[in-house]
Amino acid sequence: MPLRDTSNGYGWLSIALHWITAIVVLVLLFVGDTISTLEGDERDDALLLHTSIAITAYVVLWARVVLRFVQKHPGPLPKQRGLFYEIGKVAHYVLVVAIAVMLVTGPLMVWFGGEGIEVWDWLVIPSPFEANFAVRDALHRVHATSALVILILTLLHIGGVYKHAAFNQDGTFSKMLVPAKPDENRDASRRAEADRGTPARAAHDEP
Ligand code: HEM
Ligand code: HEM
Repeated sequence: MPLRDTSNGYGWLSIALHWITAIVVLVLLFVGDTISTLEGDERDDALLLHTSIAITAYVVLWARVVLRFVQKHPGPLPKQRGLFYEIGKVAHYVLVVAIAVMLVTGPLMVWFGGEGIEVWDWLVIPSPFEANFAVRDALHRVHATSALVILILTLLHIGGVYKHAAFNQDGTFSKMLVPAKPDENRDASRRAEADRGTPARAAHDEP
C-alpha cells in the first residue's frame, strides 16, 4: 500500500490526514464562530465542545502540518502544470501554516485568560502561565484572523477543486482520493544510491 507521497501524487497517509483534518477544521470553524453568538451556559457548552474537539484531534492536526513540510508538496500531474498550479500550492502551504497558528494560539489564549483547557468531562489541562488579558486578547485576534484566512482559502480551495473536476478534468480531485503509484524512477535511484552508499534524493526535490 503506497503510504508516502510520490513526485506528483499523494500516498495513503496524506490522503487520510487530509480528509480527517478537513472535517475537523470545518467543524472547529463552525463551532468556534458560534461561541461569540451565545451567552451563559450555551456559550460555555460551545466553548467546551470547541476545545474538546481541538484537543482530541491535536496530535493528528500537528501530524498533518509536520508531514506536509517533511514530505514537501508533490509536483503537478502533466495536465496540472502552470501558474494556477503554483498559486494552489502556495495556498496549500498557507492553509497548513494557518492550522499550525490555530494550534499554538488556541491553548495559549485559554491559558493567558487564566483558565485550564477543558476536554470533554475527561480532564482540565491547567495553565502554566499567570493570567494576562492583554496577551489573551492579542492571541484571540491572531486566532480569529487565522480562522478567517482558513475560511476564505478553504472556500477558494473547494471552488478550485470543483472547477478542476467539472471543467478541466485533469485528475486533481482523484489525486486526493486514490493514492499515487510509487515512483519507479525514484525507487530505482534509491536502490542505485543505496548500492553506492550515498543518500537518495526525492524525485520531487529535483530542480
Ligand atoms: C484548526 C484548529 C482551530 C480552528 C479552525 C479554530 C477556530 C476558531 C474560531 C473560528 C473561533 C472564533 C474566533 C472569533 O472569536 O471570531 C475560535 C475561538 C476559540 N478557539 Fe479555536 N480553533 C482551533 C483550535 C483551537 C484550539 C487548539 C483551542 C484550545 C484548545 C481553541 C480555543 C478557542 C477558544 C477558547 C475560542 C473562543 C475565544 C473567545 O471568544 O473567548 N481553538 N476558534
Ligand atoms: C471539503 C472539501 C475539500 C475538497 C473537495 C478538497 C480537495 C482537495 C484536493 C483534490 C487536493 C489535491 C490538490 C492537488 O494537490 O492538486 C487537496 C489538497 C489540499 N487540501 Fe483539500 N479539500 C477539501 C477541504 C480542505 C480543507 C477544509 C482544508 C484545510 C483547511 C484543505 C487543505 C488542503 C491542503 C493543505 C492540501 C495540500 C495537500 C495536503 O497538505 O494535504 N482541504 N484538497
